[in-house]
Amino acid sequence: MIQKIEAALRQIAYPQQPEGLYEPIAYTLSMGGKRLRPVLTLMGYGLYREDVEKALPAAIALETYHNHTLLHDDLMDNADVRRGMPTVHKKWDANTAVLSGDTMLIMACQRMMETDTPQLAELMRLFLRTQQEICEGQQYDVNFETRTDVTVEEYIEMIRLKTSVLLACALRCGALVADAPEADQQLLYQFGERVGLAFQLQDDYLDCYGDPAVFGKAIGGDIRCGKKTFMLISAVNSASEADCETLLTSRAPATVLALYDKYGIPQLARQKMEAYYTEARQLWEQLAVPADRKQALWDYAQSMLNRQK
Ligand code: IPE
Ligand code: IPE
Ligand code: MG
Ligand code: MG
Ligand code: MG
Repeated sequence: MIQKIEAALRQIAYPQQPEGLYEPIAYTLSMGGKRLRPVLTLMGYGLYREDVEKALPAAIALETYHNHTLLHDDLMDNADVRRGMPTVHKKWDANTAVLSGDTMLIMACQRMMETDTPQLAELMRLFLRTQQEICEGQQYDVNFETRTDVTVEEYIEMIRLKTSVLLACALRCGALVADAPEADQQLLYQFGERVGLAFQLQDDYLDCYGDPAVFGKAIGGDIRCGKKTFMLISAVNSASEADCETLLTSRAPATVLALYDKYGIPQLARQKMEAYYTEARQLWEQLAVPADRKQALWDYAQSMLNRQK
């Protein structure tokens, strides 16, 4: 599956000019990444049909779109490294991240429109709604940086919007192109949302505890930006008044991580991820697909939960 995706990404034909617009796009799409979203699209399709090539345009559209969000996100988060390589706004500049990023969004929509399905309008509606939700999530994420009273519920809704709707959309797109039953499409979307919530919790966890050589991003970036993660909010909720003050004002990863340890926050974060997987499992069980056929989807979701990068 990964090979099909990588081959299709390599086959993208970029115009020669202007080089400053297309080179950063080729750079971004060729530097790897886990390719989770296109894999989920092909898996969503593969639950119902064999000829997974039919879902490939949608899969590539979603990976291109995801990489678009990364260019803008790294600029917003002032992040210098991704996938072990300099980010576009560092290697080039901020204008390049904006404009090459915009172009990737356009390329993603064009590619999605090439999907061979009578459900194209429905597919585009889902894709465009998802894009708008992700912008909403990103805005909340930024808003929360300067707030000190963000609740766990607000955080969860923020990560649902910025991250999990794309995983949910990826699965549903595959099922939609396969013309899967409506009930299954909804179950897959909800499954993707639960897995996606755990996925962002894990991303936030690895931002604190990951190995930079494996994770491919700088460790402590969220703390330096004042991001209100589940870990930070949970620590604030259980901390003494003095520790609370430190948590809300310190931008030093070592200081904040010591307080996370003091209040058992890493364990709490793992429990929260596992709780979402318990919900995801129940949704997965309801899919009207034979057990042996849907096992691969569960196994893949498990590998996402246990990832180190
Ligand atoms: C990064 O996504 C952005 C988040 C939603 C956390 P991935 O962790 O899927 O990044 P790549 O594509 O594998 O590099
Ligand atoms: C990612 O959130 C959300 C989107 C890219 C839309 P993060 O800001 O945590 O992602 P990373 O850690 O930079 O990949
Ligand atoms: Mg970021
Ligand atoms: Mg961000
Ligand atoms: Mg992150």
